[in-house]
This record gives sequence, structure tokens and C-alpha cells, in this order.
Amino acid sequence: MSKSGMLDLAAGVGGKIDKSDVLSAVDTYEKYHTCYGGEEQERKSNYTDMVNKYYDLVTSFYEFGWGESFHFAPRWKGESLKESITRHEHFLALQLELKPGHKVLDVGCGIGGPLREISRFSSTSITGLNNNEYQITRAKELNRIAEVDKTCSFVKADFMNMPFPDCTFDAAYAIEATCHAPDVYESYKEIYRVLKPGQCFAAYEWCMTDSYDPSNRDHQKIKAEIELGNGLPEIRFTRQCLEALEKAGFEVLWEKDLTMDSPVPWYLPLDTNHFSLSSFRLTALGRLITRNMIKTLEYIGLAPKGSQRVQGFLEKAAEGLVKGGRTEIFTPLYFFVARKPRST
Ligand SMILES: C[S@@+](CC[C@H](N)C(=O)[O-])C[C@H]1O[C@@H](n2cnc3c(N)ncnc32)[C@H](O)[C@@H]1O
Repeated sequence: MSKSGMLDLAAGVGGKIDKSDVLSAVDTYEKYHTCYGGEEQERKSNYTDMVNKYYDLVTSFYEFGWGESFHFAPRWKGESLKESITRHEHFLALQLELKPGHKVLDVGCGIGGPLREISRFSSTSITGLNNNEYQITRAKELNRIAEVDKTCSFVKADFMNMPFPDCTFDAAYAIEATCHAPDVYESYKEIYRVLKPGQCFAAYEWCMTDSYDPSNRDHQKIKAEIELGNGLPEIRFTRQCLEALEKAGFEVLWEKDLTMDSPVPWYLPLDTNHFSLSSFRLTALGRLITRNMIKTLEYIGLAPKGSQRVQGFLEKAAEGLVKGGRTEIFTPLYFFVARKPRST
């Protein structure tokens, strides 16, 4: 069943972590991050633990506030957030030229929102790869409800080391997922390996733009807040992703920061100055209500201890993302299509 009520949110906090261990998981998670004295190397060496703790802690908040697809989108005036998210998924399918019968890989598939939409839009069979067990459980349940469970499936594994033979897929995509990789080149190399020759990989990447100044303290703080609030070991520059693709052997067909094509800023739903009835839960008032409900539910034992702390670092993430968007030092919409050459 789709879970989008406040009690579902409370019951889901911690995912597969034992409810009595949620608070200590929050502690461990926070300490990985620069805002709490953590270091990039530690986050990279322990990326599986760091990223899985993050998604166990936040997935029910994401479902409650954002829906089944956990990503941003460029947005046109008059479009709702949900419509823009769906269009962004269709755009990816079109750029990959998906055809009925194609065997497609979704790298870091979340709870399968994009997978369900893209498979229905393109009549393809999609394998969702994800290393988070709680999300896989949710994804399977939602696929069964949407009746796409005969054509699409999920595999629990690390995208740095996939359990697929070489040259398996007709197409691969990653939506705001490979930003969690400890080494972006190694993650692209692994995707290259499982693609058939002549076939394409497309992605939306989270990146620092050329406006980011690594010696500027305000910029550093915004970057650290985004890493903390989103389970990231390190946010790369757009140019580093491009170099990594080429080094992995891909021929880059086109690449662009799609924030330039977004008349409505991608971060608007998180901006506390913005009010929207259709995304009410994301507004300042909606978040205030959620904060108070979580506090009450934690107090009476219906939400695990530590739930308020999770809400706290997600609020920090939202602030960091809005500042990153306004200053244009950060983009979650760096897009590329890259082809594995026919003869390798
Ligand atoms: C921001 S979510 C995006 C999910 C999905 N693409 C969507 O747009 O709804 C990132 C996803 O990447 C997955 N992920 C992160 N690191 C991973 C890894 N090393 N191997 C497999 N999946 C990973 C997370 O578990 C999560 O599902």
C-alpha cells in the first residue's frame, strides 16, 4: 500500500534499523559529516554504511513530503511539482531512445517511482538496482500495486560492483544516485561494463558548478550542508563527471546543466518563502506541522527516538540546497547522454 500519512512516516523512520537503535544510527550518521567534524575520506571508506544509514533514516520522510520519485526537475510556469517530475522522467526515456523490448538498468532506483513511470511510458523492462534493503522492500510492494511486477524487478547490490555479466543491458540510467559513489570514475566504469556495445547511459548528476569557489567559506558551508542532508561522500564538479565518463571509455553525446532550462527554479518547493497548496507539506507551515507531529509521536513512542534529529538534518539539507541553488554554485540537474562505442 502507498504510505503517505503521518503515522506511516513515523513508523517508517529508521527503515530496517531496529527502532531502539535509530538514535545511535543518527549519531553515527551525523559524525561522518564535515558539519560534525567528519572527513571526506571516512565517508568514502565507509560509503555503504553511511549511505544505507541515511536512506534507512530518511526514506519515509521522502515518501511523505516528495512522493515516490526522489529527484528534482526543471519546471515550467503553470506546471505542478509532480508534473515536472514526471516530464523529467519522460525526457530521460526519450533521450535514451528507449524502445519496447529493451532491457534497461536503473542505477540507484530508490523505491522505484521513476522505474514504474519510465517502464510504462516506454514499454520496457527495467531492473532497479539499489543497495538499501528497506527501499527494495517498499519498491517491490509499490510495483505489485502498480502491476508492473511482471516486467520490472529489483536487485539488491552495490552499483560499484554489480552482479551482472558484461554487456547485459540495452540502456542504463541513473537519477541523482551516482552522486553517492565514493569514486565517480569507478561507478561509470562499472555501468560501462554492463552495457551492450553501441548502447547509451544517461544520468542526472548532483554537482558543484564552476561558480563554486573552494576557498570561499560560505560556499564550503553550503556544500557541507548539502552533503550532510543528502548522504553524500563528496560533491564533484560537473567537469569531473565529464572527465570520468570519457576516462571510463564513453563517447559523450551531449551534456548540459538543465537548471538553465528551468523558468521556475528547481529549488522553489524547498524555499520557505514559497507557498503551494499542491506541495503543502514542503512549505514552511507544512514543515512546522510535521515537526510538531513528529515531536509528539516521538514523545508518545509512535516514532522512534531520533526521529526529530532526522527531520533536523533534512531541514538543514533543504536550507543548503536553496542556498546552493540561489548562488548557482550547485546543480542537481547536470544531464548527460553517453554511448559505449560499438567496437571496444
Ligand atoms: C536520491 S535517491 C534517487 C532514487 C531514484 N533514482 C529516484 O529518483 O527516485 C539515490 C538512490 O541511490 C541508491 N544508492 C546509493 N548508493 C548506492 C550504491 N552504492 N549502490 C546501489 N544503490 C545506491 C540509494 O539507496 C537511493 O535509492
